[in-house]
Parts: sequence; C-alpha cells; structure tokens
Amino acid sequence: MSALLTIALPKGRVLRAVAPLFARAGADIAALLADDRSLVRESTAAGLRFLLLKPDDVPTYVEYGAADLGVCGRDVLTERPSDIYQPLDLGVGRCRMVVAGLVGRPAPAGVPRVGTKYPRTAAEHFARRGVQAEVIYLQGSVELAPLVGLSDLIVDLVETGATLERNGLEEREEVARVSSVLVVNRAAYKRRHDRVRPLIEALRPPPPATREEEAADRVVPGGAGA
Ligand code: PRP
Repeated sequence: MSALLTIALPKGRVLRAVAPLFARAGADIAALLADDRSLVRESTAAGLRFLLLKPDDVPTYVEYGAADLGVCGRDVLTERPSDIYQPLDLGVGRCRMVVAGLVGRPAPAGVPRVGTKYPRTAAEHFARRGVQAEVIYLQGSVELAPLVGLSDLIVDLVETGATLERNGLEEREEVARVSSVLVVNRAAYKRRHDRVRPLIEALRPPPPATREEEAADRVVPGGAGA
C-alpha cells in the first residue's frame, strides 16, 4: 500500500463519535481511542494515520497539507473559513450554537456584552439582526461570564443543555446548527484521489432507510425478556 493517508481528528467528545465511522473504514478503533498521551495513532492495515489535535487546529493542519483529511465542527469552519474541501457531513457531533443569558434577566437596553469563543460568528449573528453588540473573546467555560457580570449574554454550543441549566442560564436564540464535517486538503484530493474517494464513501452515513432496517434487525423477537 502507498504511504499512509494522514487524518487530523479533534480530541475529546467528537473523537469518540467519529471513531466508529473510521472503524467502518478499517481503522483500529482500540488504537484510536487508547487512553494514552500519544498524538499520532497508526492503523497500518487500513493505510491510515491519525493526528489528535485541538478541534480549532484541524483546518490548519489540513489546509497546509500536514494532514490529507480531517474532521471538524461546522462551528470551527464558520468562525475561521479555510481553503479546504468539505465533501461530507458526517452526521455526528450534532449540537447547536445559541445565544443564552441568565434566567429571567433580559439583556439590558443599549449595547449588550456577549462572551464567546466564536467572536466572528457572534458578531455576524447580531449584525444580521441589526443589534449592536460588544463581543468579548473567551477561550472556554463561557457560561461563567454572565454569572460574574463579565457579559450580559453568551454565544456558545449546547448539546444536552446541562451546562446552561446548571449555571442558571437559558437559551434566547438559535445561531446555527452544528455537526462534524469531513474536510480534505485540496492538493491531496486530486493527487491521492484513488485513496481519498473510497474513504469518503466508507464514511458516508447510511441513508435513513438503511438505518431503520438495521434497527429492525436488532429487535429481539418476543420482546425484552426473550
Ligand atoms: C462545550 C460547550 C458548552 C458545553 C455544552 O464545552 O462550550 O460549555 O460543552 O454541553 P451541554 O449542553 O451538553 O452541557 P466543553 O465541554 O467543550 O468545554 P469548554 O466550555 O471549556 O469549551
């Protein structure tokens, strides 16, 4: 087999969601999910090498060709547009980007302060709505900002809603729906097309009908006790 295809993956929650997809493409899922500190994981039998990165860095590695492909959230791509192909929505890592504020405390009249990891996306959202806002860039734990008076609102991702609820915050508006996207380096897409194309097909989510059939296959005749 020719040189390994290099794939940039985000560490954390999304890695656990995408690992089974790459297992479908022949990758060694145990190596991928091993709880050690190694940042490079190889699945030589499948011809794949994985780099484990901070989610925000995935487009950079792919755009510069340090990785042939990668997986990153739409939130990251919208915040920092990159010159890379986006051939496939992987249908995992689904969450929403929302505006939130303290329960029962509407944003004050005037220019609200908005804490967020997504300054560009947040600024565009408020501009679209004709609302002037002061956007404050934060790197994480964004929900803290309204609790201590740093901001009136936040723009952040919500998956289960537990972090908002736990911190006395409520959703005010939806900014965008987010999911994980496969991204491909433009040169690699052309030069290594014979390897990249089958991988894209292997990662493509099955159509809904197939998923229903799979679910039906798992139903145990006679019910739960059978
Ligand atoms: C993300 C996001 C929210 C939380 C939402 O943060 O920024 O804080 O998850 O998840 P939930 O709706 O299921 O509670 P992450 O855990 O990535 O850490 P961070 O706040 O440091 O960015």
